[in-house]
Amino acid sequence: MGDITVSAPGKVILHGEHAVVYGKVAIAASLNLRTYLRMRRGTDNLISLDLPNIAIKKSWTTDGIKSQVSLPLCDPNKPVGVSGELLTKLKDIAGVDQHESDTKQLAVITFLYLYCALAAHKGTLPAIGLKVVSVQPVSAGLGSSASFSVCLAASLLQLSGIISSPAGDEVWSEAERDLINSWAFFGEKILHGNPSGIDNSVSTYGGAIKFKSGKITPLCRVPKLQILLVNTGVPRSTKVLVARCRERYQKYPDIIEPVLKSIEAISHRCEEVLAELADSPSTDLYETLEDLIDINQHHLGALCVNHPALEEIVRTAAKYGLHAKLTGAGGGGCAFIFIKPDTPLTTLADIKSEFASQKLSCWETSVGSPGVTAHSGDDGHLKQLFS
Ligand code: MEV
Repeated sequence: MGDITVSAPGKVILHGEHAVVYGKVAIAASLNLRTYLRMRRGTDNLISLDLPNIAIKKSWTTDGIKSQVSLPLCDPNKPVGVSGELLTKLKDIAGVDQHESDTKQLAVITFLYLYCALAAHKGTLPAIGLKVVSVQPVSAGLGSSASFSVCLAASLLQLSGIISSPAGDEVWSEAERDLINSWAFFGEKILHGNPSGIDNSVSTYGGAIKFKSGKITPLCRVPKLQILLVNTGVPRSTKVLVARCRERYQKYPDIIEPVLKSIEAISHRCEEVLAELADSPSTDLYETLEDLIDINQHHLGALCVNHPALEEIVRTAAKYGLHAKLTGAGGGGCAFIFIKPDTPLTTLADIKSEFASQKLSCWETSVGSPGVTAHSGDDGHLKQLFS
């Protein structure tokens, strides 16, 4: 068997982050900033993991893992989460402190769990070397951890023959993607505690989606949307921010519940406006999208997930007549600035150079790229990425 190469996109949440954790509607879309994974069959009995973006390089012997984990763990067609007992063993194998909740270490645990559940489901452990390279910023609210879990699930399910091996640059069937998504969700749970599942869903299916309590509805009528993503460079943890929002909710439920309902109403309105814009673009509709961005940015402040660096981006955008909000968990990470079709190119050039002078990285990008995809190993761009 040759190498397995897969990729999965990052995401931008247009509206509904945090509210989605409480069963409210969110609207999200994939980004053409992707995570790529290459898996090589080993000739020795080593399992190796190379994650250059977060400076992790680890390896284990297949015998070492076999001696600590009783395999097979489960039926790979029936996704389940990691048990507390197994988590303790995996932390031992990974050499991680039992109380460690650092994202880098949790990424290793996620790999070990999905490897044991999916690659070793027949009780034998294949020797593999895995390298994951992300061309999206990590820990910045753009779903890099979800695209990591999606790539792991897809490649390990393919290695085990549980899903097909597409010829290259192809997506899997609906049922196969559902299986990838369910396993990626359990990966996300290791990384983030109690995620809503929106990030892994966008990364798996791609395009633009509406998400509510695990139900995914693709948005079929969406205009071409252009955004400028700006990274505050302030690292943050999704788990911590979700907990911070929950604290506020528990302290003031009668005040916060209406805020969450209002965010849901924003998501609904956003969906309607996007559909109307796809049919007939109008200045009024673009202005409504801008209003929704402004209102939601204030709501997210009320949920305690804003950050001065995000507010500074919002202020800079306003100076140029543009509108911005945080995206993802907040508390740092990225904001997006909405670009209308009539936004002058000179305005864009000016704001980009202002961010550059503040040493903030930004990317102009369109939303709605394909979800998890299998690639042919011959692709020159990928060869370069993994060299
Ligand atoms: C993180 O990208 C989005 C949050 O709503 C958390 C989640 O949905 O799991 C903050």
